[in-house]
Parts: sequence; structure tokens; C-alpha cells
Amino acid sequence: MQGQYRALWLDKDNNLVVIDQRVLPFEEKEITLTNAKESIESIKNMIVRGAGVIGNVAGFGVYLAGREYNGNIEKIALLAEEIRESRPTAVNLMWAVDRMMNVALNSKLNGEELVALLLAEAIKITDEDCERSEKIAEYGADIIEEIMLSRGLDSFNVLTHCNAGWLAIVDSGTALAPIYEAKKRGINIHVWVDETRPRNQGANLTAWELSKAGIEHTVIADNTGGHLMQNHMVDMVITGADRVARNGDSANKIGTYLKALSAKDNNIPFYIALPASTFDFEMLDGLLEIPIEIRSENEVKYMRGLSSSGELQEFQIVQSQSSALNYGFDVTPARLITALITERGDCQASTEAITEMFGDLI
Ligand code: MRU
Repeated sequence: MQGQYRALWLDKDNNLVVIDQRVLPFEEKEITLTNAKESIESIKNMIVRGAGVIGNVAGFGVYLAGREYNGNIEKIALLAEEIRESRPTAVNLMWAVDRMMNVALNSKLNGEELVALLLAEAIKITDEDCERSEKIAEYGADIIEEIMLSRGLDSFNVLTHCNAGWLAIVDSGTALAPIYEAKKRGINIHVWVDETRPRNQGANLTAWELSKAGIEHTVIADNTGGHLMQNHMVDMVITGADRVARNGDSANKIGTYLKALSAKDNNIPFYIALPASTFDFEMLDGLLEIPIEIRSENEVKYMRGLSSSGELQEFQIVQSQSSALNYGFDVTPARLITALITERGDCQASTEAITEMFGDLI
């Protein structure tokens, strides 16, 4: 498998090794997935998360199901359905499972030959994601350069929400890919990192990735972005996406919509970066149709962090008598999105532009 950064890899026995994202940035721990059930659990429990990586683990999950049942297609299909249902919003999950199953069914193979085919296809999905990520990096960095040129800027401030770096999309990611590329091009770039409550993917994962890459960044409480935008401290917003409908409406981590509203009000370009595998071409209206995951209220009521003695612990921050509501995602309407940054270039968030650029995949 290729790629500059690695969110997952195979060990010598072709088990899938992933990074346990639940304990970053305080511990760097690897977990080995040896069967389909373990890959389902890793997605459900957010050992791995982020649309692209969920898709990749799902792809390898189908391979692991094949290996467990020695290429028995009926057994593989049952587990594939379970993998498909492990989380509802990120469409890369369903996309990867469907692709794996189509390849398996069309091959008419079984036994060891089918297992080998499934392994090759899962690797291909990952390698293609790495290639897509590289292109998103290039196109996104071009946009950064254009904005800098048109506004005569000698440094650049990007705001991002959640984590759409290599922990979420295998290689350099989607939203972070242009930032990594801008740094490589010598641009003086600084990133405002939304902490991203309740699971803190910004504070825990994006900040960790950026510091490893030596990129200047500042973590902010989720409600800070609007104030920064009003005070000319943000030049561009880039986020990833979990599912983008044919009309350009884009589901991403809860809170993205508020950043888009604020960007619009302050005339700041708001971009969504995504690979084609994050489009749901069947969904014509994202606001009406994209399913939004509701997660456990405990994610709101508890936080994880280091205690004063340096131990990783969970802390209760809401009294037990109160209930909490935990929507995982929201949908940013297309009208608030300046453009989508894809592996085929930037694309207006509209049915016409998406159909024109991606017609061959629809
Ligand atoms: O719930 P998560 O952590 O799986 O959330 C998904 C995300 O990482 C974000 O919404 C991200 O910005 C898009 S994934 C490339």
C-alpha cells in the first residue's frame, strides 16, 4: 500500500493494523484487526473514524470476512451487510462495502482465489484514496495561492473543523491536504483548529497531526470562529465531508453549518474538500435526505483527558440528572459553500456542476 502518511497498514499475516484514535494525542497505540467483527467494532467505537478511513476499514473488513469463511460468498454477504450498517452518515462506508461485494459477485470466484481478490481490491481502494488525496492537496493549495495573490497576503490563516487529515482519509487527508501542500510550497500558513466537541477531533487529532508536520496552529473553542471571522483573522475555511448530495448539500461534523453561516456573513471563502467516494449521487437533496447519526449522550456528558497525575481518564462534566442530545453531523446547504475541492479540481456545489464533472460516475 502506498501513501506518505499511514492511518492503516497490513502486518506480515495480512491483518489490518490501525491507530487507536480514542487515545490520541496522549498515547500512540496500534490495534490489530483480525476478523470482520473486530473491524465493525473499531468503526462503531471510533477506534477509527473519519469518512475515508471508515471506508478503508470497511473494505478490509469484507476481506477479513472472506478470509474467516474461506471465500464463502453467502457468509461474506451477511457480514458485509453488518459492516455497511456500522455507522450511518459517512457514505464512504457503504460505497466501499458495495464496491467490494460487486467485485466479489462479478468474479464468480470462491475459496482462496476470492480471498486474494478481496485483499487486492481493499488495497486498491486505499491506494486510490492516497492518489485522490494528493490531487486534492494540489488543487486546494492552488486556491490558497490564488486568494493570497488576489488579496496581496504574505501569510494565510485557515480555519478547519473536526479532523479531515491523514487519520480520517489515509494519506494527507482532504481538508488538511491543501494545508500540508501549502506548507511544502513555502507558504506562511497558520491553522485555527476548532476543538470539535463532543469528541474533540480537532483538539485531539488535527492539532496532533499539524504539530507532527510542523504546521503553526492554534486550538480554539468551537464558538470562537465567528469572532475571529468578524475580526479579519480567517482568510479561508476548509472542512472535509462525510456525505455530499447531488445538489452539493454537505454533511460534516456537527458545527460545520454554523461556521459556514459565519463565513458567509463575513464574506470569507468556505470550501469543502472531498474525494468522489464521498458523493452520494443518489441523494438529490442533502438537507432532506442525508441521515444524521445520533450518538450516545455520554459523549456530551463525559470528556477524556489527562489527570493532574498524567493518567488518561474520563471525567464527568454534566450532572447525572440532566440529559444530553448528541447529533454527530449537520448539513451545510450548498448555497453557503464557495466550492467543493475534489480530485478533479474545484467544482461548484450545485446539481449542474456536480453532474457535469462526475457524470461518468453517476
Ligand atoms: O464522527 P467522525 O469523527 O467519524 O467524523 C467524521 C469526520 O471526521 C468529520 O466530519 C470530517 O470533517 C470529515 S471525514 C473526512
